[in-house]
Amino acid sequence: MARRGSTVKVEVRSTASPAVAWHQLREELALSDAVHGAIWPGRSGPIHKPQPGSPSLAEVTIDSERYQIRRLSRPVGWAGETTSEVLISVRPDRQGGSRILLEATGWDQMVGSELGQEAGDLLGWAVDQVLAPISRAATAEAVGDWLTDRLARRPQGGRARRTYKNPQAHWPGFEAILDLLALSPTDRLLEVGCGGGALLHAALTTGCTAIGVDHSPEMIRLSHQQNLKAVGEGRLVLIPGSAEALPLPALWVTAVAMATVFFLLPEPMCALQECRRVLRPRGRLAVFTIPPELRGTPAAPEPMASRAHFFTDQELADLATAAGFSDAVVTRTANGGQLLGAHR
Ligand SMILES: C[S@@+](CC[C@H](N)C(=O)[O-])C[C@H]1O[C@@H](n2cnc3c(N)ncnc32)[C@H](O)[C@@H]1O
Repeated sequence: MARRGSTVKVEVRSTASPAVAWHQLREELALSDAVHGAIWPGRSGPIHKPQPGSPSLAEVTIDSERYQIRRLSRPVGWAGETTSEVLISVRPDRQGGSRILLEATGWDQMVGSELGQEAGDLLGWAVDQVLAPISRAATAEAVGDWLTDRLARRPQGGRARRTYKNPQAHWPGFEAILDLLALSPTDRLLEVGCGGGALLHAALTTGCTAIGVDHSPEMIRLSHQQNLKAVGEGRLVLIPGSAEALPLPALWVTAVAMATVFFLLPEPMCALQECRRVLRPRGRLAVFTIPPELRGTPAAPEPMASRAHFFTDQELADLATAAGFSDAVVTRTANGGQLLGAHR
């Protein structure tokens, strides 16, 4: 029989005050729910009732005065219907920061129920479900991947929203793209990896219509907020989707833009072919990206740089030609970036 009363405890330290940490915790739990499925709904109350395929009861209680959030879950028809509890609380530390504590209890009684009578299973659960995932997540490789996603490859969170609302450092690239495309009211522009919609906002002032595609749901939401008027007027459509499988029919747009996205793509050739597929004959392509010599600088810092693809000017032009584009030319922008221009 498994020992009763085991607890998993995880503590995270933050320099944020408890009030700020509590606010951030709630926001991050909501984002995590959006990606991984609802574990921490934003309101107190039952999560789901027993039904085939989901035979358990769960309830969340949020106490914003005491900065704690509790999730109770009870199996139905096994483990003596014991209750497992996950309590997350934010407490002050001595330096004005916070300790974010997670304590999980009751899981051991479920592991120790009839089906899992072996004591070794208790440790098995703890290693498999808690220690190994945390160990994996804390490796340099995993943290590097996570940071790259969080800030650039699939932006998420408050800092990403602040950055991409108006990404100052990206304006030289935006201007180079707009100059090259010379959009007019007859154009239908596609921006791939539209982030917070700043380039779309500027492009729409030419009177064109536009479509923004991005695989970050949060960036699609931000683009929407930043371009409410154009969306309301039907001049801008925002679609979650990937550069490698654009959610558009063939021959749909007259121009395609990519700003500070191309070097992050895992399959750049595939993305170029997709851009060509959706462009009308003689449609224009404009891609602003980071050249190899700026690798490791603020334009492409680590750990993002090691996960990105850099091409010489010639390689970039050759790639576009190999994807079926004509007139592929790479020029340099004022900030040393690469501007690839081509026609379908
Ligand atoms: C560095 S941000 C640039 C955002 C915007 N173009 C700008 O310059 O502010 C890269 C954007 O491309 C998106 N992105 C990256 N890879 C993508 C892919 N394979 N498919 C769709 N979007 C992608 C990210 O979600 C992110 O919003």
